[in-house]
Amino acid sequence: MEPEIDRNPAGNPALRLWYAYPGDLADPAAAEACAALLNEAERARAARFHFDRHRREYLATHALARIALSHAHPLPPQEWRYSVNAYGKPSPLPESGVRFNQSNSTELAICLVSSPSAAGASRSLPPEAVPEVGVDVEALSRAEEIVRLAPDVFSGAELKQLDELPAVSRPNRAISLWTLKEAYIKARGVGLLLPLRAFSFVFGDAQKVRLEVEPGVDEDPDRWRFFLLNHASHRIAMVVDAAVSGELQVWEAHPLPTVLKRLTNPGEPWFPVPAFENRP
Ligand SMILES: CC(C)(COP(=O)(O)OP(=O)(O)OC[C@H]1O[C@@H](n2cnc3c(N)ncnc32)[C@H](O)[C@@H]1OP(=O)(O)O)[C@@H](O)C(=O)NCCC(=O)NCCS
Repeated sequence: MEPEIDRNPAGNPALRLWYAYPGDLADPAAAEACAALLNEAERARAARFHFDRHRREYLATHALARIALSHAHPLPPQEWRYSVNAYGKPSPLPESGVRFNQSNSTELAICLVSSPSAAGASRSLPPEAVPEVGVDVEALSRAEEIVRLAPDVFSGAELKQLDELPAVSRPNRAISLWTLKEAYIKARGVGLLLPLRAFSFVFGDAQKVRLEVEPGVDEDPDRWRFFLLNHASHRIAMVVDAAVSGELQVWEAHPLPTVLKRLTNPGEPWFPVPAFENRP
């Protein structure tokens, strides 16, 4: 049976997930071109990094966010400004109903952008009514290390499910949990104000995942949808306000910052079932 895909009548996809590769900035011209997209404060922050690879990660991630925002709303990349909430989550200005969240590892930068029309939102909506998103990316090579950190960051329910798996499957589950938890606190934008062990991602049959929260946590678990995927030896988790319904497109900016390529075909479902969850 064909999967059902909501279509945004305006032709603006609900969500765009973007990839970029900090290694592209080993070319000084590419690094300079990315820096030219940033504002003064971002360029100053980039200049303060001691190691080139950290500077490249930062430049790539911040240039990608501006490119991705400009793809969703007609404003040149250099002209975006950000308002930052009390916990550090940026929202783009001018207010256009677009929301984004970014994450990076040494080799991969990602950015998830939601567009207003797809969520039924409009410019007249107050900012707090605009649907939020959160993303996280981690290199698969970190999975064993995350198993060792599990007791410090995972809830009782998550640890119980992790322990019930065969040992060979635990790193895979652990990196899924880590990225989901991180993407969730980033979607909510409250950082570690939300204790990591006060909420649980519970894996059910048919590779479905659901959120459970401790009593006292101010949350309606049905508010969010959760997605896991792999790209370029990384695990990615996306947490998306359930109000966002419409097409997901996956794009790549490679080489940065000029070549933009769509990776998904029109009409593809949001995500294939993450078969890797069942594999060691
Ligand atoms: C601050 C935080 C966003 C950390 O992010 P991180 O893993 O270091 O970095 P990421 O690459 O995923 O994301 C950073 C980006 O998220 C955005 N961000 C910053 N604060 C944010 C917040 N409160 N909410 C959402 N997004 C935020 C910014 O765009 C930031 O980019 P910048 O630092 O270059 O400006 C926060 O989630 C945190 O401290 N998490 C705790 C880490 C932890 O213990 N994780 C265990 C998971 S089980």
